[in-house]
Amino acid sequence: MTSLPDLSVHYLPQFVAEHDFVGGTVVVIDLLRASTTICHALAAGAREVTPFVEVDDLLRAADGRDRAGLLLGGERGGELIEGFDLGNSPRDYTPEVVFGKQILFTTSNGTRALHHARLAAKVAVGCLANLSALTESLSHDVDVHLLCAGTNGHVSREDILAAGAIAYELTNNDRPARRLNDAAESARGEWQELLTTARSADRTADEQLAVELRDTPHGKTLIKLGFETDLALCARRDAAALAPIYDPRSGRITAV
Ligand code: MLT
Repeated sequence: MTSLPDLSVHYLPQFVAEHDFVGGTVVVIDLLRASTTICHALAAGAREVTPFVEVDDLLRAADGRDRAGLLLGGERGGELIEGFDLGNSPRDYTPEVVFGKQILFTTSNGTRALHHARLAAKVAVGCLANLSALTESLSHDVDVHLLCAGTNGHVSREDILAAGAIAYELTNNDRPARRLNDAAESARGEWQELLTTARSADRTADEQLAVELRDTPHGKTLIKLGFETDLALCARRDAAALAPIYDPRSGRITAV
């Protein structure tokens, strides 16, 4: 008897040991906003995104480099880091700004979660912007982990909803059955509930998600910081038809 492929959701990096990823696929999810920004940057033609956990490590890597083909991007506290070219708003990563560039990138939680996933056989970046391309690219992967970045050690509803959307797509559309862990069942259930609410409110899922993001703690912070329009952008499905892959050996995220 063959066993079903696994699909696990982890609500925070702290909830799963790095070694549990060995041999598997990890999708790193930071819906607001690192995963979404990485997808938009690569869709806009950035050559690669190189993630760093610490600002100092990023600055050391940039030191002495010709800045012509290089951009420094990311945030601390949601805001532009002093001396950086770009913050963490997906809106800033336009073709005019990022095409052909390497982006050295650090965020409070997203790039930390990428680092946590580095022992996996495959590390992908996931959000709503690449929902279809991502789930297509995962169809044949046997042991799939959806790793939510969370916000400063707290579980984030927005990441759970994104994980739920991915879990929903991966277990629908005639795809092979999977064995879900409890967190995956629950995240998928939350996404299905959102779809039901959207239908009864006569909204699209994107519209409903944008509404619900406004009520999350990090959504509220972003509104206060003036990034209100990022919420609708982060809620938009399939704005970027690619599945970014992080190669921990080269340290690069590139589009697939
Ligand atoms: C993070 O990595 O914590 C986020 O992407 C923060 C943000 O929204 O800028």
